[in-house]
Amino acid sequence: MKLFSIAALCLITVVFVQSCKNNNNAESIIVLEKGWKFQTGDDNKWSDPTFNDSRWHNILIDRYYELQGWPEYNGISWYRKKFFLPSSMKEAAYMKDSVQIFLGMIDDLDLAYLNGKPIGMDGKNVPENFDTTGFSKYRPSLYDTYRKYMLAVNDPRLRWDAENVIAVKVYDPHYAGGFWGPMLPSISMIDLRDMLKFDIKSSPFKVVNDSLTKVFSIKNITSKSDFSGKLSVKILTIENGEVVYATTKNIDLKAGNNVEMPFSYKTDVSKPCTAIYTFIDNSTTRTHKVSQEVPFILTPKPAQTPRITGAKVYGARLGNQFIYRVTATGAKPMSFTAKDLPDGLTLETSTGVMSGSVKNAGEYKTILTVKNEKGEMSREFKIIIGNTIALTPPMGWNSWNCWGLSVDDSKVRQAIDYMVSAGLADHGWSYINIDDGWEAASRKADGSLVPNEKFPDMKNLSDYLHSKGFKFGIYSSPGPKTCGGYLGSYQHELQDAQSWASWGVDYIKYDWCSYDEIAGKDNSLPMLKKPYDVLRKSLDKVNRDILYSFCQYGKGNVWEWGGELGGNCWRTTGDIFDNWASMTGIGFNQAPSSPYAKPGNWNDPDMMILGWVGWGPSLHPTNLTINEQYTHVSLWCLLAAPLLLGNDLSRLDDFTIGLLTNEDVLEIDQDALGKQAVPIYKQGEIQIWAKDLEDGSKAVGLFNLSRTTKKITLNWTDLKVEGKQILRDLWRQKDLGEFEGKFEAEVFTHGVVFVKLKAK
Ligand code: GLA
Repeated sequence: MKLFSIAALCLITVVFVQSCKNNNNAESIIVLEKGWKFQTGDDNKWSDPTFNDSRWHNILIDRYYELQGWPEYNGISWYRKKFFLPSSMKEAAYMKDSVQIFLGMIDDLDLAYLNGKPIGMDGKNVPENFDTTGFSKYRPSLYDTYRKYMLAVNDPRLRWDAENVIAVKVYDPHYAGGFWGPMLPSISMIDLRDMLKFDIKSSPFKVVNDSLTKVFSIKNITSKSDFSGKLSVKILTIENGEVVYATTKNIDLKAGNNVEMPFSYKTDVSKPCTAIYTFIDNSTTRTHKVSQEVPFILTPKPAQTPRITGAKVYGARLGNQFIYRVTATGAKPMSFTAKDLPDGLTLETSTGVMSGSVKNAGEYKTILTVKNEKGEMSREFKIIIGNTIALTPPMGWNSWNCWGLSVDDSKVRQAIDYMVSAGLADHGWSYINIDDGWEAASRKADGSLVPNEKFPDMKNLSDYLHSKGFKFGIYSSPGPKTCGGYLGSYQHELQDAQSWASWGVDYIKYDWCSYDEIAGKDNSLPMLKKPYDVLRKSLDKVNRDILYSFCQYGKGNVWEWGGELGGNCWRTTGDIFDNWASMTGIGFNQAPSSPYAKPGNWNDPDMMILGWVGWGPSLHPTNLTINEQYTHVSLWCLLAAPLLLGNDLSRLDDFTIGLLTNEDVLEIDQDALGKQAVPIYKQGEIQIWAKDLEDGSKAVGLFNLSRTTKKITLNWTDLKVEGKQILRDLWRQKDLGEFEGKFEAEVFTHGVVFVKLKAK
């Protein structure tokens, strides 16, 4: 597979449970979740059912082997699993003639055996006497293809009412490899679930003013069978199974047809619920059921009284243009004033925009005051004038994860306007960054780089966003071409830095891409550093505070030297995609870079994958579940990561807005101490990460990476604290009281409980 995190384009990570039951409640499916064994290397006798694999390693099949102790392994490996195959499955089945062996996704290639005989290769069924030689020869990667192998019910490879052994040989030439989910392997008879497909994804829940709306649909994917029955949806609270909403209708589902079911209800949106979609077939009374998490909003609505938001510290370079917008929530209009501003700066009372240029280096303790008709709030704001910018991680929006190369001027302006109207701008989301796709096909006669027809006037766009208090980001490559094939800055570095400065650019993402052509086979540190140093020196000549973001996917442990080279942040990984495997594969593997994060220098685990994303031009709702989205935001804040949204901001609903506007949560990311969290506890699928904060307290994320709700205990000994601690639930913005020795919480599957602890 290409890059670790490219692993999972177009996947279904919605953790859903599918079941089909006959009226005796017998199941025609066996889920093969646990008990898998793993061994690297290759030996054909490993397909033999009598082979003794008891000394092999235990392995989980919903994530790559790289995440389970084989971080660098490329080549052939084997998975094995024993299971009993009861003939009751046949009796329970709707269709009695075939058996399906489903293995989920395998990265990159596979050859699957049942009881010593091949059954399928790379997603295609094979006959019992299939010639299995030549397996490891490179074939196109099929890392994002579901493996489903079909056998006739009387196929001799199946052993009914006896033990069976599946053995799967896997070949991964590079990066991530092996079984990786997102749906669990199973063996099943063909049943309603294979004939009728629910679509619960493409039109997600939308939450607006305590109302949830959604459309789900069911499609008869058979070419001959017609069905009729009852289609229903039920929304149940997780806490006590109370029915919040239910509706049913009778439907006819002719072969090839689709029936949609829109629904809408009002509820207490802070309560976690499950949606259960069911079809009951009239003629057989068999049911097909799928469940899904329903959005719940933990972030309380902001008070009407002013609350100053954003970082408590800001750095600018001596003598350069200074621009910073003070932000606050509460009833509008508001007035902004400041005491003890450094000479050279003014604060506009009605907008909160602080601007000017400071002539003397130093640390200025300014007091900000924000007033509205409901009240006022004052808070210290430290301005540090010297040579360091990005004293807290940048927060903003970048065009790539939604629009890809289809970005244009109007899409960027739309993002700016929605940042304001959705209230994100009041929480410190301030950068508006254009990624790849803005550059013209050739330079002008004088060698200068100009935008293409999609960006008629860069300066005008920049003025527009600056006028609203935002900052302007742009993108280039040190190579001759960007990753998208547009012009890069190679041998024009100073000229480009000057152009960007003249347009008012405040942020440059500099993406390695075609610099491979220049570096050739030279992977040495001096070569990895060289192009970043060249642009650093150019940026130093333009007298503008331009945040410098390296993007070279973590090569040469960039976190160890990016700061010395004058980078403000650097990507530590390949590209992220909107699924659980990609997000957690990146997020929970950031410990090595942790010691290097500090004010001015941030590790960047890549942009966020919330809301509607798609890499352009067509978009889809994120494949992360509700709890996975809480995990994503909490983890990125603990990691003191740059927070760059990558979604279409015109499609925000109250759930996504809640995720992005929780001040208690954002304050953890923006904390002035600038520490990155470290894992303090890892046991099986439970991880606890903790981040030290400026006021001496600690932010702690209790993460449940498993497929069921788990009770997680945070022990003071793991956190290295003692005595009474005052705890606050950050998402709910609620004090939980005093605790001694430990704190326990129930954590949803793939979810988090995010707390702050302060010694009493
Ligand atoms: C690389 C980067 C992405 C994006 C694209 C643009 O893949 O890692 O973040 O900038 O290039 O082509």
